Amino acid sequence: MECQPNEITQPGVTKRLRRLRTTPMIRALVRENDVQLSDLIYPIFVEETITSPVPIPGLPGLSRIPENLLADEIHALNALGICYVMPFGISHNKDDTGSDTWQRDGLLSRMIRTIKSACPHMMVIPDICFCEYTTHGHCGIMADQDVDNDQTVAHLVKQCVNAAQAGADMLAPSSMMDGQVEAIRKGLDSAGFEYVAILAHSAKLASAFYGPFRQAVECELKGDRRTYQLDYANARQALSEAMLDEQEGADILMVKPGTPYLDILTQLRGQTLLPLAAYQVSGEYAAIKCAANMGILDEQEAVLETLIGFKRAGADLIVTYFAKQFAIWNQTTPSTMTTTE
Ligand code: PBG
Repeated sequence: MECQPNEITQPGVTKRLRRLRTTPMIRALVRENDVQLSDLIYPIFVEETITSPVPIPGLPGLSRIPENLLADEIHALNALGICYVMPFGISHNKDDTGSDTWQRDGLLSRMIRTIKSACPHMMVIPDICFCEYTTHGHCGIMADQDVDNDQTVAHLVKQCVNAAQAGADMLAPSSMMDGQVEAIRKGLDSAGFEYVAILAHSAKLASAFYGPFRQAVECELKGDRRTYQLDYANARQALSEAMLDEQEGADILMVKPGTPYLDILTQLRGQTLLPLAAYQVSGEYAAIKCAANMGILDEQEAVLETLIGFKRAGADLIVTYFAKQFAIWNQTTPSTMTTTE
């Protein structure tokens, strides 16, 4: 029998994937993901009683904004094109329960009102938690050395209704209590805030990357948050948390921190049709910023790479301390944000 030429040994056509990388234009044409300023939420730290900005040592380039300068800062952010802010309060009225958060004239509602009156179209998405407002620094009310889930949830609902009354557009509950999203949704609806959305910190992992944040908000935490935040070794549990939040009425599901948990984001993308968010937390910011300040990383390139990484992994939106810097880069060199050379 005559021997047939084996196809594998035939000279074939060389696969030239480099063909689509030859020029900036062709690379732009086939680019799969991009990031825009309208994808980014900017977290800000607002402190009562101080009168000038206080730089945050662990977050180089960022400061605590004095409450009396908040409106000016909002005007400046608006001028840069930033449309979404996530205010964190640095309270001088802490107590055991964090009761300042549900007072009509407490720091949380004052921040929201100030932002909305400075710039009515700026979307305000406050973090909803207690750790910045409690003397013990935990994310809820304590009972027997641990956070009491159901009492904390009842207080979270009061905090949310108060924030909605002050004008918040969307709420970002982050205390990782069981049943918090359902209770908050019901509380908002029965108070007439059916259109205030919930950006759920669904998969919030107990992370060392929150370190600079805790310094920034002067959270005097003794111990850790491992009885309520997720164990970072557990991806399936993270997905369960997120699926429950969806059933409970969350509008957007968030994974936090970002960079070490891209696998969870990607798996979640395959499980839900809701929009997904990633939170690039304080330690991720600090790591890039410190390396850039030492001249060992190109900040703009590194930041863009992480943000696009979140998008590629499945995020629609990103909470990042780099948002203001991104807006400034975008104004000076808009093309670098879309087409890298
Ligand atoms: C409060 C809260 C934390 C962060 C956001 N909301 C801290 C924590 O859980 O200890 C961290 C954000 C960051 O590190 O940038 N529940």
